[in-house]
Amino acid sequence: ATTLGAAAAGKGKTFGAAVANGRLGESQYATTLDTEFTGVTPENEMKWDATEPSRGSFSYGSADAIVNRAQSRGQKVRGHTLVWHSQLPGWVSGISSGSDLLQAMRNHISNVAGHYQGKLVYWDVVNEAFEDNGTRRNSVFQQRIGNSYIEEAFRAARAADPGAKLCYNDYNTDAVNAKSDAVYNMVRDFQARGVPIDCVGFQSHLIVGQVPSSYQQNLQRFAGLGVDVNITELDIRMPTPASSGNLQTQANDYRKVVQACVAVARCTSITVWGITDRYSWVPDTFPGQGAALLFDNNYAKKPAYNAVLEGFGAT
Ligand code: G3I
Repeated sequence: ATTLGAAAAGKGKTFGAAVANGRLGESQYATTLDTEFTGVTPENEMKWDATEPSRGSFSYGSADAIVNRAQSRGQKVRGHTLVWHSQLPGWVSGISSGSDLLQAMRNHISNVAGHYQGKLVYWDVVNEAFEDNGTRRNSVFQQRIGNSYIEEAFRAARAADPGAKLCYNDYNTDAVNAKSDAVYNMVRDFQARGVPIDCVGFQSHLIVGQVPSSYQQNLQRFAGLGVDVNITELDIRMPTPASSGNLQTQANDYRKVVQACVAVARCTSITVWGITDRYSWVPDTFPGQGAALLFDNNYAKKPAYNAVLEGFGAT
C-alpha cells in the first residue's frame, strides 16, 4: 500500500492539504495528515484578518503552529494569502486614500512574508483579483490603488522573502477561458516588464462530472511561459448525500486532474482543500452539496482516493 504523498513523490510532485489549526488536536485528523500528505496550506491562519487584525499589530500564533508542525515533519508549506478582498479586517476596507492603502499593503506584506522568510516554498501573493469575464475585480485595492496594486504586491513579497516562489492564485481559471486568458496576459506582461512572478495557482474547486476538457492544455500553456503551475485548492463537489454513481464519477474526475498534472512537468504540486468531508468549506457555502474530498466524514478512503493513486501510476 502506498500513500497520496508517496504516489505524488514518484512523479516528483508534492501532494498537500489545506489544514485548520483548530483541528490538529483531533487524532484522526492529524494522523491522516501526517500519513498521507507531503504539503500543507493553512486554510485561514495566514489571511489578513488573522495576521494583522488591527493596523500594525501582527499575530502569528495559529499560523506559526501549522508551519512549525509541518516543518518538523518535512512537509512543504504554501503561504495563503497576502492580498485578497475577502477575510479582510474592517480597518483595511476603511482606508480611503490610495497612497495610504498602498503603504498599508506594503507593510502587511513585508511583515507577514518577512516573518516566514525562508520557511515557505510558495506564496499566494494575490488571490482572486479577476472577474470571470477577465476584467479586474472591483476590490478595495483595485478601487483605491488601481491596476498597479498586483505588481506592487509581488515586488513587496520578493523583497520580503527572496527565496519563496511567488504565485498568483484564482478560481474558474481551470479551463482556457476569458478569466485564465486575463491571468495569462498578466503573467506575460509581468515577465516583459520585470515584475517578479514565479507560479500560477489554479484553485480547481470543481463540480462532479465537470472537469474542463481544456484543463491540461490550460496548465500547459502557463507552463510554457516558464512559471510553475500548482493545483492549489482541489475539491470536487456533488449533491449530498453522495450517490455511489457520483462517487465513481468523482473518482474519474480526480484521476483526470492528477493525470493532467503528471503530464505537465512544471505542475509541481496538487493541494486538496481539506482532509475530510466532515470539515470542508463546501456545505457552508453551497447548502446541499459536499462530499468533495478524498476522505469521507469518518476518514474512510473514498473511490477518489484510489483514483488519485492510479493517476500517479502508483497502483
Ligand atoms: O473563526 C471564526 C469563529 O470564531 C466563528 O465563531 C465562526 C462563526 O461563523 O466563524 C469562524 O470563521 C470562519 C472561518 O472560515 C474559520 O472557520 C468564517 O466564518 C468562514 O467564513 C471562513 O470560511 C473560509 C473561507 O475561505 C472564507 O472566505 C473557509 O474556511 C476557507 O476554506 C475558504 O477558503 C477559500 C480560500 O481561502 C480561497 N479560495 C476559495 C476558498 C473557499 O471559499
